[in-house]
Amino acid sequence: MNNKYYIQTYGCQMNLYEEGIVCAIMNRANYTRVDNEYEADIIFLITCAVRAHAEQRVLGRLNVLKHLKHSKPDLIIGILGCLAQNYQNLFNSNDGVDLVVGPDQYRKLPELIADFQRTKTKQICCELTLENYEGILPKTPSKVTGFVSIMRGCNNYCAYCIVPYVRGRERSKSKQQILTEIENLIENGVKDITLVGQNVLAWHDGSLNFLDLLKIIDKIDGFERLRFITSHPKDLTQEHLIVFSSLKKFCPQLHLPLQSGSNRILQLMNRKYTKEEYLAKIEFARKLMPEISLTTDVMVGFPTETEQDFYETYEVMQKIQFDYAYLFKYSERPYTKALALYPKVDKVVSQNRLERLIELQNKITKQKSQQYHNKVVEVLIESHNGKQSLGRTKNNKVVIINEIVDVGKLYQCRIKAVSGWTPIGEIIRTDEQIATKDNIVNNCSSPNKKEEM
Ligand code: 5AD
Ligand code: SF4
Repeated sequence: MNNKYYIQTYGCQMNLYEEGIVCAIMNRANYTRVDNEYEADIIFLITCAVRAHAEQRVLGRLNVLKHLKHSKPDLIIGILGCLAQNYQNLFNSNDGVDLVVGPDQYRKLPELIADFQRTKTKQICCELTLENYEGILPKTPSKVTGFVSIMRGCNNYCAYCIVPYVRGRERSKSKQQILTEIENLIENGVKDITLVGQNVLAWHDGSLNFLDLLKIIDKIDGFERLRFITSHPKDLTQEHLIVFSSLKKFCPQLHLPLQSGSNRILQLMNRKYTKEEYLAKIEFARKLMPEISLTTDVMVGFPTETEQDFYETYEVMQKIQFDYAYLFKYSERPYTKALALYPKVDKVVSQNRLERLIELQNKITKQKSQQYHNKVVEVLIESHNGKQSLGRTKNNKVVIINEIVDVGKLYQCRIKAVSGWTPIGEIIRTDEQIATKDNIVNNCSSPNKKEEM
């Protein structure tokens, strides 16, 4: 039976989460996942369209994969997700693609495969339907960390962003579905749960809001750590921060995309906050939770950005000292308002600005990591490779331990050295002094790079 499928996922946490949705749908239809493309009868690429470079990578990979069809003519190749939604009818007859399936149409995958096998014609299914995948329990790998998507889509229409066009309108998943998924993760041994959504702060179900939801989740037994990503700065209030800080499982970590430090650019981007408002929120968060780790997304080269605008971004980043920043060059995307904005910024100028920001942020991230030296941190062990164990602090800093310890357990560690950005820890055994409040730091996030998109 030709029932083996292989999946490769590109892009953000939402796509990683949705890989589990695709697996659940395929497994229910009696397909079996394999982890090697050469064994597969069907290959899915779950794709990203947020920047042109992300699309190029997928198209490059597709070029390689389609050669597998020479030795296996019945191989089916499916492009899923945001790039599928963006390109839809642009795939042509000999590009090797058999299925083009947008992010709202994964339930139809088994049917589309059958239709393709019957008709041997390309199946394109990309309608945006406000799908929430309620009733499906994603098939997740048994790991210590797990994701739950609590909402899909976006209504914000930032001027550079393709997401509202390829993922459709914002919609919240029901509380019941979220809780069922969390229980399922806990039963599978997950200890560290991240809620994901394009803007989690906007979650609501008609009677409850995001804070109500967090309070309910925080009380669930059986897991240790609760995170969420992404929060739009315009929606973050003092009340949010006060409630976050009161939750037992909340990890003091916030990903708050700044995008630019220039008010003129922020307005053109339709971000709906100013640099001053952003700074005030950060200041309040740090006052309330001095240990909080802050990460951000910043873009250079947005149309009309001048050296002065860029310098304001540079200055804000210098001032805030993010624990980590995802830095991008503006990339022109179809449908978006920024397409019509002129003048565009020269590519060489953008590259130079990007390099200056990377240099600044690398220095800051390194300094923040060095602060761990000799400190004591609580580490949740996520994996080991037979020699070393890898864990994470509550605020997302990866720590390496040079011995094998139990995966899924919490350990107090003393940081003996910092190698580049990575603290090397040693487990504190019971005879050693337990951490006191003032020698515990938790204020640095992991440099776990988002896939370069
Ligand atoms: N060009 C460059 N970066 C982009 N992002 C979103 N759209 C674009 C674009 N057109 C970045 C933003 C966002 C992150 C996920 O990707 O910084 O926060
Ligand atoms: Fe894109 Fe803005 Fe929505 Fe984020 S909030 S997904 S950047 S439109």
